Amino acid sequence: MKAIEIKPNIFWVGAIDWAVRDFHGYITPNGTTYNNYLINDKKLTLIDTVKHEFCNATIGNIKNIVDLSNIVNIVINHIEPDHASSIDLIMKLVPDATIYITERGKKGLDRHYDTSKWNFKIVKTGDTLNTGKYNLLFLETPMLHWPDSMVTYVKEAKLLISQDAFGQHMATAARFDDEFIECASTGELEDAVVDYYANILMPFGQLIKTKIEEIVKLGLEIDMIAPDHGVIWRKDPGKILKMYLDMAGGKADLRVAIIYDTMWHSTENMTIPIMEGIKDEGVDCRIIKLRSTPMSIAIKEFWKARGCLTGTPTINNVMFPSIAEFLYHLAGLRPKNRIVSAFGSFGWGGGGVKEAFELFKRMGLEIVEPGIQCQYKPSPEDETKCYEFGRSFAMKVKEYHKKF
Ligand code: FEO
Repeated sequence: MKAIEIKPNIFWVGAIDWAVRDFHGYITPNGTTYNNYLINDKKLTLIDTVKHEFCNATIGNIKNIVDLSNIVNIVINHIEPDHASSIDLIMKLVPDATIYITERGKKGLDRHYDTSKWNFKIVKTGDTLNTGKYNLLFLETPMLHWPDSMVTYVKEAKLLISQDAFGQHMATAARFDDEFIECASTGELEDAVVDYYANILMPFGQLIKTKIEEIVKLGLEIDMIAPDHGVIWRKDPGKILKMYLDMAGGKADLRVAIIYDTMWHSTENMTIPIMEGIKDEGVDCRIIKLRSTPMSIAIKEFWKARGCLTGTPTINNVMFPSIAEFLYHLAGLRPKNRIVSAFGSFGWGGGGVKEAFELFKRMGLEIVEPGIQCQYKPSPEDETKCYEFGRSFAMKVKEYHKKF
């Protein structure tokens, strides 16, 4: 897709990856984009690069605007390869350019490339760069998304170039939020924001709040937020900031996600009466079978709901493998502000549900013990108990939900 001017003499020069469906294990049914930006000012400045395979796309976009060899500054906001893995090719074309990057970012590039002949300018929060008419301000955002991360604010354009933050994995012809909303179904873009946040940024909620508060305290006027993935927020950048603050503050729907797997349908057969009990307490419920669901979608469904019930059969005295994978993955995302319990079937010794609780405890989530178990196959009496368990859990979810 050709370059687009997003502010006077500031261009999107990125690439659209329509085909990617697996982004380091994260399912991306809508593809993604690798956004980078060119400031065509007295000192020609490139902000971020793109994924290596798309280097020719960004080079072509740049060449359609200017003579690429005139680039004198390259800002690297984030070194993850989806943004920085074209840097070696770009540096072959402009070997005298200066790279503006955080100290940790430089260490990362040093590990990936032979940087011995590259010019670096290490920057930290508050440092600035004048490109002619524009003044750039750098703000470090460690762990958003990696330790090296920073964002770049272009003062005269009221533009925040935010790397991963506020992004979405969404390949679309629309480059701006208002273009997207005009031609797509309602809620699709917001769902992509939640999906991205749940799978990438869930561990960093407190940091996000702190950074947004820091930006507010600095009094930076922002009328456009340009992330490194997905659409650019120009219609209402306040909306995406509020969405992030809400999610960081623990916002969730009054809903229970039942996330389960099953061997011979016993655990599966427990889900329906549990769901009926939840529904009869006036709480929404979704049932997600892990074996049929990509992990990142299960994570998103967990994140959207205030409560989660994990259903696991016991196999060899431990959790079912897909449930173990899900819970270990979830533990790494350090979820907060959710209430959880577990259920499942067993043949003789049991142990799967116990393990699920152990992991939930390690995560520090609000836990409702002891969950519910049945031997071999749920009997009619077991189904009644499952229904009551669903009702009882839903009541606790409603009570817990009042805190937010
Ligand atoms: Fe889109 Fe953390 O990279």
